[in-house]
Amino acid sequence: MNEIDEVKARLDIVDIVSSTVTLRKSGKNYSGFCPFHSNTKTPSFVVFPETQTWRCFGACAEGGDIFSFVMKRDGADFKDVLEDLARQAGVQLRAPSPQSEEEDKQRQKLLELNAAAADYFHKLLTAAPEGAQTRKYLATRELTSDTIALFQLGYAKDEWEALKRHFLDRGYTTDELLAAGLIVERDDGSPGYDRFRNRLIIPIRDARGRVIGFGARALAADQMPKYLNSPQSVLFDKSATLYGLDLAKKHIRQVDRVVIVEGYMDVIQAHQHGAQNVVAQMGTALTEQQLKILKRTTGNFVLALDADTAGNSATLRGINIAREALDRETVPVPTARGLIRYESRLNADIRIATLPPGKDPDDILKDGLEAWQKIIDAAVPVIDFYFQTVTRNLDLNTAKDKSAAVHNLIPVLRDIGDPVEQQHYIQKLARLIQVDERTLIAEMKRQPKQPVPRRKPTVMPPVSLAQQPASPATTAPKFNNTLADSGLETYCLSLVVAHPPALAAANDILEQQQMDGLGVNDFNRGSNKDIFRAMQLWTAADNPQVSTLVDMVGESLAGQLLSLANFWQNRPPIPTETIYKDLSIAILRLRLHNVGEQIKELRFLQREAVENNNFESARHYTAKVKEYSQYRKKLEHTRDALSITGKRRTEAVL
Ligand code: CTP
Ligand code: MN
Repeated sequence: MNEIDEVKARLDIVDIVSSTVTLRKSGKNYSGFCPFHSNTKTPSFVVFPETQTWRCFGACAEGGDIFSFVMKRDGADFKDVLEDLARQAGVQLRAPSPQSEEEDKQRQKLLELNAAAADYFHKLLTAAPEGAQTRKYLATRELTSDTIALFQLGYAKDEWEALKRHFLDRGYTTDELLAAGLIVERDDGSPGYDRFRNRLIIPIRDARGRVIGFGARALAADQMPKYLNSPQSVLFDKSATLYGLDLAKKHIRQVDRVVIVEGYMDVIQAHQHGAQNVVAQMGTALTEQQLKILKRTTGNFVLALDADTAGNSATLRGINIAREALDRETVPVPTARGLIRYESRLNADIRIATLPPGKDPDDILKDGLEAWQKIIDAAVPVIDFYFQTVTRNLDLNTAKDKSAAVHNLIPVLRDIGDPVEQQHYIQKLARLIQVDERTLIAEMKRQPKQPVPRRKPTVMPPVSLAQQPASPATTAPKFNNTLADSGLETYCLSLVVAHPPALAAANDILEQQQMDGLGVNDFNRGSNKDIFRAMQLWTAADNPQVSTLVDMVGESLAGQLLSLANFWQNRPPIPTETIYKDLSIAILRLRLHNVGEQIKELRFLQREAVENNNFESARHYTAKVKEYSQYRKKLEHTRDALSITGKRRTEAVL
């Protein structure tokens, strides 16, 4: 029995559920009010002791095992839940390698240091004479002392080594202070100085409420930048963090909706005024990962965008990947197309609320909760928002503008996952520009132009990938083709399901070639990412069984997983001796496919920049294309090197 089964065998789902949900016995099973959606009329939530599963027969229509229940209840990820439940069950998880044990220790130490630093800054703000001015500043921002305490706001002194001395005196080392990003190393490598000086400190917490980094706002007018954040660290990953989530989680679940704003101050003001389902992205483009984290708690997202962002052409352009790679620091939301893809991948409802020009959520909330609520309630679905924005400045009676509307909207329509919804918007566009629907559908089915592949792979793997779509472009017209897996994703995953040790072995081969092993970011399709995440843990188990993996990914992905498991059933098997190499080559081909797509988008952006006489951007894109092309060369080179040795070996075998 593996650890997961062991935990399941020792715990009873009825005990775990009834610690937070009142259950009543009905026949063999237990029922109660579903903790995941608000409803006080029907007890739609059922726990089945025999199968150790649960299901809501009401609004959520979800279900699963003990792990998925706790994950959903706590908004936690699988690994954390496994640790928690294993502790409760008295199951010893496989001893961590000495290396990861060391890493764990370091993380613990940094968490401790961050907590101590938050406390240090907070005391300076609330009790030290140096904090007086910042206290006044916060009063002008109308923040109460309760709010200041709740968010543990702080002050960093206007000195070079105040924090450093404070913590060195208390036994922390320079290395630890550096690792936490609290001090900065000097260029010459001599001992560092405090990163945050004369700033308002905003501790940033993870979903479990642990301080993982800091945002620090300038206090003086000439202080740059306005916000200085902790650097990326073992604890702090901006793209996977949402500010305020620890406090908002409970409320998001209650109202089944999350509002995402741009600024820290907006979140703080929102909570003070009783809008407690508000979180902020972290000064970066909103990532799919952030949405996924929120998805554990709700499927209803409202992005509150300021008027500038909402009207910004970058928000509207139909380019997604390249922008994500390039503009992380500057563009707060993905493009409309990006959002629509997220929407179908995550099965979520994403709406956009536009704030009045010149106003932050902060300003509106100061006018009261009602004004805020009105704006949020008026949020429109992304596609409607996109329609509005695209057509705002067009005269739809003219042929030229009709064509512009079609040109801009078709790519978005193509991305809509749900066929009924897609049809709805085709009709809407047809009415809007008074063109026959069939014309639009024909236009939509037309293939976006794709360059011819430069050359054929030197050696095809034993099962020809050509039997499968090599890229979405070569398949029959499919509407949301960007959501489709290139075929290579499925190929890689199915190989691992059939031969769990292949993952580590293929990664070793790649490492020998100075390439990264297969990672979550190699996958485009959200469900594949999820499956792969579970697989990483699964392949490390002693005797990985497909059934365990099914449990790990949960019911919603079980079907997809089973078709992966059956993938090889009516295909000739790959000879065992070449499986590892075959997988490593498939990984490289997957990357080649992805980088090819990115280069295409970058070229498009580059041309567009030249057309708009924006030569600075054009140069930037040119440089990026070069960088990506070099990477592509390296991938091709490695693929060929592996293919050739693979061929020799195959020849030797024959
Ligand atoms: N931000 C950042 N780095 C900057 C500027 C902004 O990380 N140099 C991020 C912060 O997360 C900030 C958010 O972008 O909260 C929005 O920026 P802005 O609207 O300028 O800040 P507010 O939080 O609204 O702060 P304030 O109301 O004090 O201006
Ligand atoms: Mn603001």
